[in-house]
Amino acid sequence: MDGVKFNHLLHGGDYNPEQWFDYPEILKDDIRMMKKARINTVSLGIFAWCKLEPVEGVYDFDWLAEIIDRLYENGISVNLATPSGARPHWMADRYPEILRVNMDGSRNHFGMRHNHCYTSPVYRRKVREMNQALAARFDSHPGVILWHVSNEYGGECYCPLCQQAFRGWLKEKYGSVEELNRRWYTAFWSHTYDTFDQVEPPMPTGEMAIHGLYLDWKRFVSDQVGDFLRSEVEALREVGAKKPVTTNFMYNFQEYNYHKIAKFVDVVSWDNYPTWHRKQERLTAMDTGIQHDIMRSMKKAPFLLMESCPSPTNWQPVNKLRRPGMVEAASLQAVAHGSDSVLYFQIRKGRGGFEKFHGAVIDHYGKEDDRTYQECCQVGEDLIRLSECNHTWVKADAAVIFDWENWWAIDESKGPRNQGMYYKETVEKSYYAFRKQGLNVDVLDMEQSIEGYRIVAAPLVYMFRAGFEAQVRKFVEEGGIFILTYWSGVVDENDLCFLGGTPGGLMDVMGLRSTEIDGLYDGESNYLCPVQGSVDAGMLSRNYRCEHLCQLVEVSTAVPLMVYGDEFYQGTPALTVNQYGKGKAYYICADAEQSFYDDLYRNICKEAGLKAPIPCFVPEGVEITTRESEDTQYIFIQNYNRTDVKLPIRVNDYEVIFQSEGVKTGGAITLRKFNTVVLKNRK
Ligand code: GLA
Ligand code: ZN
Repeated sequence: MDGVKFNHLLHGGDYNPEQWFDYPEILKDDIRMMKKARINTVSLGIFAWCKLEPVEGVYDFDWLAEIIDRLYENGISVNLATPSGARPHWMADRYPEILRVNMDGSRNHFGMRHNHCYTSPVYRRKVREMNQALAARFDSHPGVILWHVSNEYGGECYCPLCQQAFRGWLKEKYGSVEELNRRWYTAFWSHTYDTFDQVEPPMPTGEMAIHGLYLDWKRFVSDQVGDFLRSEVEALREVGAKKPVTTNFMYNFQEYNYHKIAKFVDVVSWDNYPTWHRKQERLTAMDTGIQHDIMRSMKKAPFLLMESCPSPTNWQPVNKLRRPGMVEAASLQAVAHGSDSVLYFQIRKGRGGFEKFHGAVIDHYGKEDDRTYQECCQVGEDLIRLSECNHTWVKADAAVIFDWENWWAIDESKGPRNQGMYYKETVEKSYYAFRKQGLNVDVLDMEQSIEGYRIVAAPLVYMFRAGFEAQVRKFVEEGGIFILTYWSGVVDENDLCFLGGTPGGLMDVMGLRSTEIDGLYDGESNYLCPVQGSVDAGMLSRNYRCEHLCQLVEVSTAVPLMVYGDEFYQGTPALTVNQYGKGKAYYICADAEQSFYDDLYRNICKEAGLKAPIPCFVPEGVEITTRESEDTQYIFIQNYNRTDVKLPIRVNDYEVIFQSEGVKTGGAITLRKFNTVVLKNRK
């Protein structure tokens, strides 16, 4: 298996000793407390540029060297950051072009972070010089295990340099302005371009009507940020740096297509900040679970949880305390889904500034009897007990498609509902339906291969791109089970509608043509009801509610399994199945309630022979996830309900390698709220 393997599961987090230069006793204290909490890794230098290059061209790395040495002597490794996420005042003053420009053309003042132009040759040069100096000095240090490049790249820049680069990107892509006009359909409203020089980024005070422009700008921004990352990595490599590289991604981050950025790192990492206890924990756990799975699926290799909060954050609308046991559950959930680390933001809580009330392993109070600190110590112990899971694999037979470009396109399409198409929520319905059965799920974009999965669900794939139709055809032909929903295969990669019927290129595979789609006002609903007499796995026996969108279809070879219960299209198909080649293709016509997905997917999985790794029904709110090595399977069972759950599993059939405090394993397994059990099974 590929990916970056560390010696053990990493435990630790962001550490900012540069904020504590006036408190020399702190470092000693921190190291003592880190060791006690079994912390073995910290991320250093993320926002330290000011201290690394206090005056232009004068590097001061000695303090960093000393800290890396001291940590190393104490068994603590370092993810060493490149500091490009924020820069010193002198740089912005001297080279204003590095500051970001807003959509309205105004240039930012110095301040905050992520406030840089990712095209600016000056900024790229400054970053390159810094990265090379850091790499030359520290890459060979045995305590440095990973390069943490920048921090949470985010945002867009509209400066003249970025706009120029965008026009260059377009020229490269389309060759001629005539071709660009064709692909963007600019005859519409007389918006034809005469030259590339006329092209501006999409903006509300200018062009928002050309969807091809909108999508290409988003693609360009992802590519340009990816290129900035590439240049950061190249700088490290040019001076011989050998340590692996990552950059930390964010939750549900629509701005950039992370797949385009992930290709420049050796290991994917991300920062997880769920609002635990806001809604039912089982729902938050599902939502967090899909993010973990997206991150893992990008490289189909273990990932790193780079940041998480051991107690409340300080930037969410309400910052609620983590209830006892939540930090353990959330940390082990990451490991269950394929993370080889549990890292926090931050090790020591800062005294001042924007994040002075952000949770940390070590509080302002600074002593060991702090509740959060003790919970982190517990996680440290847990990870040692789970060390044999390090770099084991999460194998999935089911996959769900979640595609960034499709997400952008749906939200901008000016289609059947401009007040909510619910792309992410729709993807989650399929994802949850698999997960509720205890199945691992890969979450792929349209460019990834779907070969080898038993079942692939593709919800709301409005845009077909990257040869997806051809992949699906082959997949079904060869025996795969494919599930498509309403409003799929409507446009091509330039957001141009398919002519001659939809889903474009898959009408024969699906055995139908989608004809019209009804947008429902909020609060309106329809329902799906069973067609009597069918014996297909997709056959359900009760009615289910649907809302938002109802697709009308005309079947050719597909068999209707459910029909609409109301409206002028009452009695017309609402769920169909089509036999194609050796496989089957299901089509879900409407935005049906979760229980519809749960029941349908349960039947389909059963028919396909996919079942949970434990020999009993998986109750709602219980997460089952497996990691495996060549000969061993590790079954993680977590209870996200607020009440106890009893699973009739014979513990003697397994080795219990981990159980949270409170778990009972006599005869059956009883988990209290937020408890985790890990069972080991020889394959
Ligand atoms: C992000 C950043 C960190 C910190 C945390 C706070 O993840 O990467 O530097 O600001 O948020 O939650
Ligand atoms: Zn710029």
